[in-house]
Amino acid sequence: MFSSRTNWPLAPNRLSELLRERQARGLPILDLTQSNPTRCGFTYPEDVTLAPLINPRALRYEPDPRGLLTARVAVGQYYAERGVELDPDQIFLTASTSEAYSFVFRLLANPGDKIMAPQPSYPLFDFLGALNDVEVLPYPLVYDGGWQVDLETLAAQCDARSRAVLVVHPNNPTGSYVRRPEHARMIEICRSHQAAIIADEVFADYSFDGDGDRDRVSTYSEPCEALTFTLSGLSKISALPQMKLGWVVVNGPPKLRQEAQARLEVIADTYLSVSAPVALAAPSWLAHRHDIQTQILVRVKANLRKLDELLTAGLPVSRLKVEGGWYVILRVPATRSDEDWAAELLTCEGVSVHPGHFYDFPSAGFLVLSLLPERDVFETALGKIIPFICARS
Ligand SMILES: Cc1ncc(COP(=O)(O)O)c(C=O)c1O
Repeated sequence: MFSSRTNWPLAPNRLSELLRERQARGLPILDLTQSNPTRCGFTYPEDVTLAPLINPRALRYEPDPRGLLTARVAVGQYYAERGVELDPDQIFLTASTSEAYSFVFRLLANPGDKIMAPQPSYPLFDFLGALNDVEVLPYPLVYDGGWQVDLETLAAQCDARSRAVLVVHPNNPTGSYVRRPEHARMIEICRSHQAAIIADEVFADYSFDGDGDRDRVSTYSEPCEALTFTLSGLSKISALPQMKLGWVVVNGPPKLRQEAQARLEVIADTYLSVSAPVALAAPSWLAHRHDIQTQILVRVKANLRKLDELLTAGLPVSRLKVEGGWYVILRVPATRSDEDWAAELLTCEGVSVHPGHFYDFPSAGFLVLSLLPERDVFETALGKIIPFICARS
């Protein structure tokens, strides 16, 4: 009765079972997997968050396949503030970044074609690939005091069926950026296979050192020699995942870009998925993003500082370098699987963390913590995690 693309193992995994049992017994959980910003004690003033949804223009239906012009102009303004002038025609609104991925996969790939995606990275790519009938093939990011793209493996794995190289910038959960020389080589690889770059920049505003390293690339502002789709949205930029607004910026050689835009317009026109109240409110949410971004950056930096204070030299647990985003990775002894570490931390200490394998870390020994939780939750959880790991190492 059902398509094979939905043949997922639907039974709850071991960690969600343990969580459910703990919740059922009314036991407390210190949740360091929490990455929903609306549940982390940030202030969302109602006049800024809800009032913009009430707009009499929403009484009329004015469908536009690329999304309401006023909202696209506001997205253009967001990029203009970063020194990049875009034509609103280059911008397509979607109901989320995930939907933006689907549109771009549909635009570029036939069933069975390949999209190259970083590993470790965001776990949803496999699902997005399966739902759009494309194969998501990993290319490695390697860590040696900082993360780098394994460009040789990427080049070797690309072939005529590779339709795009996906970069997450900064990446979730490694918090690493693609460097300019890496980007240049990726463009060469893409051009030699007539493939595109898909750049997910949802965390672009959460760099720990401001504009930081000049060597980092920003794909929307680069002179693009490859067709490039930059994806982002309000779920991270304005920390409003519930409002459901994402977008795609199309860039690249003019002829290719025009053709991509014309085809994308038909895909978007088929769904017309962004609601009028959300599109009308978007300019205001974007204009007010700095307040929530500051709250988040203050939180993640404070949590990271606390972690560094507690991770004294000589402990069997350390953290990997992180440059931006909402996560940090702990390196723990690979004496047991990362899932065992996560399960034992939950059962014995009531602390919930993600095992590295959720993000396809190639080996054991990594736990992923969200840096968003409130400071007392984060600190209390660390006060349990670190001694627990030390005692069992
Ligand atoms: C790297 C990355 N891309 C995309 C998304 C999803 O964004 P949206 O809520 O706009 O679909 C997430 C959500 O965590 C993410 O981590």
